[in-house]
Amino acid sequence: MKSSNRKLVPLTFSLIATCFATMNTATAQPKETIYDEAKVPQYTLPDPLAMADGAKVADAQAWREKRRPEVLRLFREHVYGHNPQNSPAITWEVTSTDKQALGGKATRREVSVFLLGKKDGPKMDILIYLPNNATKPVPAFLGMNFDGNHSIHADPGITLSKQWMRTNNDKGIVNNRATEASRGKSTGRWAMDKILDRGYALATVYYGDLEPDFAEGHKMAGSIRSASGSATTPGAEWGAIGAWAWGLSRALDYLQSDKDIDAKRVAVMGHSRLGKTALWAGAQDERFAIVISNNSGEGGASLSRRRFGETVERINTSFPHWFCGNFKKYNNNEGALPVDQHMLMALIAPRPVYVASAAEDLWADPHGEFLSAKHAEPVYKLLGTEGLGGVERMPGLDQPVGKTIGYHIRTGKHDVTDYDWEQYLKFADRHFKRGRP
Ligand code: GCU
Repeated sequence: MKSSNRKLVPLTFSLIATCFATMNTATAQPKETIYDEAKVPQYTLPDPLAMADGAKVADAQAWREKRRPEVLRLFREHVYGHNPQNSPAITWEVTSTDKQALGGKATRREVSVFLLGKKDGPKMDILIYLPNNATKPVPAFLGMNFDGNHSIHADPGITLSKQWMRTNNDKGIVNNRATEASRGKSTGRWAMDKILDRGYALATVYYGDLEPDFAEGHKMAGSIRSASGSATTPGAEWGAIGAWAWGLSRALDYLQSDKDIDAKRVAVMGHSRLGKTALWAGAQDERFAIVISNNSGEGGASLSRRRFGETVERINTSFPHWFCGNFKKYNNNEGALPVDQHMLMALIAPRPVYVASAAEDLWADPHGEFLSAKHAEPVYKLLGTEGLGGVERMPGLDQPVGKTIGYHIRTGKHDVTDYDWEQYLKFADRHFKRGRP
């Protein structure tokens, strides 16, 4: 998605601050957007391996039983909000199957998922492509899309979304609805051939099926937040990112019952606001085997306390519906947050996580994205994995690094490219033990 705030300025990256204790909490803050590393105020990160009461987390068991639940609760209470409890199980209906899609290369399946178990309630449509020349069940990538399932490929067999979407002439979206001209407009972001050729399925859902992405979107008929009612105390109720992430888990519920998919090998992936969503889904739902954040930035992979590019105040002002009400308390006050985004990544541990930045995407703070990954590492190590595998500093452009935590910063702008997908496929092959490490 474009933002007028995205600026192209020269990259200057400082050394990684590896010691929490040597950083000082920021005091008076300038309001203008900072794009100069030297102007980033100092900050102190919370230690993922210290309980809120100060007790040290000494072993994997203490992480699992005490600190992980505590961190998860803190993210729910202060950042993304709580999901509703005890929702009824989903039901679904396969609405189309074409075994000869994409010239015979794939089987295309469309499934309507009734999110609260009944046909007259909110629903989302999953589009799935399965490689025909692979032994089933196959591993899969699951990701939400911005412009409707029909936007990810020009395949005329994909059902055109009827949902509300942001009007956009370039994408053939007229009066908030998709038209035939909308087909395949985001093809470049979904490396379909590569994914299928490597033996993976691709499953996707339009995020607007859960909730249209504007401040009042949750009030629209069919939105999951309006249909679910209040889950908890005011301020801690789920925001739109919470709702989208919940939708990813419901998509995985369906995938678990699809005999062609190996649901134990599903990588959840997302770009930008949907990268924030993928991280939050993966942090909460341990069934996701791999989590991939593409240019997710503020409220996603990048550190909230690091005032570079977008800030907490800016995101809460531009997108008041994304996070829970309590998150607004941290506008211009990030130091008071009991968590930071390295702890979101730590919630994913020991499962593999991949963080991708783009050099011209300074609004998302590439260095802050790398630092989150780096500062999540102590938890990965405590749980017996290699984390970044000895990488201490941000790598150069187009030099992917890491082991259980993967990272790259690619040349170019805020986007998902074939280069990004190539790294995700390699990472998934490695962790799903397909091909050479
Ligand atoms: C805006 C927003 C970002 C977000 C991005 C996107 O730029 O400020 O936080 O990641 O939109 O979703 O494309």
